[in-house]
Amino acid sequence: MIFEQVSTGGCQSYLVGCGETCAAAVIDPETSQVDRYLALAARDGLRIRYVIDTHTHADHFSATRLIAERTDARVVMHRSTGARDVDMRVDDGDMVVVGKLRLQVLATPGHTKDSMCLVAEDRVFTGDTLLIGGTGRTDLPTGDSGQLYDSLFGKLLKLDPKLLVYPAHDYKGRTHSTIGDEIASNPRLAKTERAAFIDMMNNLNLGMPTHITEALRTNLSGGKTVAQMLAEAAALVPFISMGQLRTRVEAGEKDLVVLDVREREQYAEGHIAGAQLLPRGQLELRVNQELPDPTKRIVTVCELGRISTLAAATLRQMGFQRAVALDGGMKAWREAGFPVES
Ligand SMILES: [Fe+2]
Repeated sequence: MIFEQVSTGGCQSYLVGCGETCAAAVIDPETSQVDRYLALAARDGLRIRYVIDTHTHADHFSATRLIAERTDARVVMHRSTGARDVDMRVDDGDMVVVGKLRLQVLATPGHTKDSMCLVAEDRVFTGDTLLIGGTGRTDLPTGDSGQLYDSLFGKLLKLDPKLLVYPAHDYKGRTHSTIGDEIASNPRLAKTERAAFIDMMNNLNLGMPTHITEALRTNLSGGKTVAQMLAEAAALVPFISMGQLRTRVEAGEKDLVVLDVREREQYAEGHIAGAQLLPRGQLELRVNQELPDPTKRIVTVCELGRISTLAAATLRQMGFQRAVALDGGMKAWREAGFPVES
């Protein structure tokens, strides 16, 4: 088995491949690492056939769909998942066949109802069902501490104690442990009695993960994250530095249009000399009146540099082939002590 572990903050993801047939699967991929999975697969001579989420993640953005689009791999999840865009729904006892490698599905609801573990040769990918020295939480949508108890004590912990445990999270830089080690030392598993385990899980009082709303929305629908929208827009447009723009404004460059896409009140409080106001919300509908000459060099400006990137990308798509975005925004412009008009 060819095996790569990729950590992103506390999130752990895995590329597993069959050396004989060059087929591979990625488990719990994260959006910021897409190029890395593809690069590792290429380096190891692997072709990604399956992208698998062990459950619907509430704390990071799943890259299964992104990888599938770039590789024609199939998205795999447990059959009970609420996520759309799943190509292959699997059930307890099914096997995902990756060349000569077999990934055995173990349905382990509890952390979420669609949680599953995957056994491959000498190891088990435990998702958030079993972590090193911990377990997944059960207080997020579809979580159930009674089910987690049954999945752990009735199923996962009955596997060979020598099996290596590769979880979907570890925040302390550990790569893996074993089933036996977890039974021996995991404090959550010390509560071997069902009611005591449930009571402990229901009283952990954990804070909500950051991005939970956005992670659930995008992971369930296949929709895009804000970061993805911005990255896609940024890839479509060139940028201009603040210093460069200031020089050109002060030189009175003729075919330059500084387009301030903030709201009227923000614009009135202070803008770049000669900037034209066209709020982002009205851009598409008023662009014909406001920007009659598509050959002008249009520089979009906003407060923080994000909305202006989206606006410049929209303008490019509409045929303003010289639209660029300011690298920075009015906040940075003021902080740099550059001149503003009000
Ligand atoms: Fe999770």
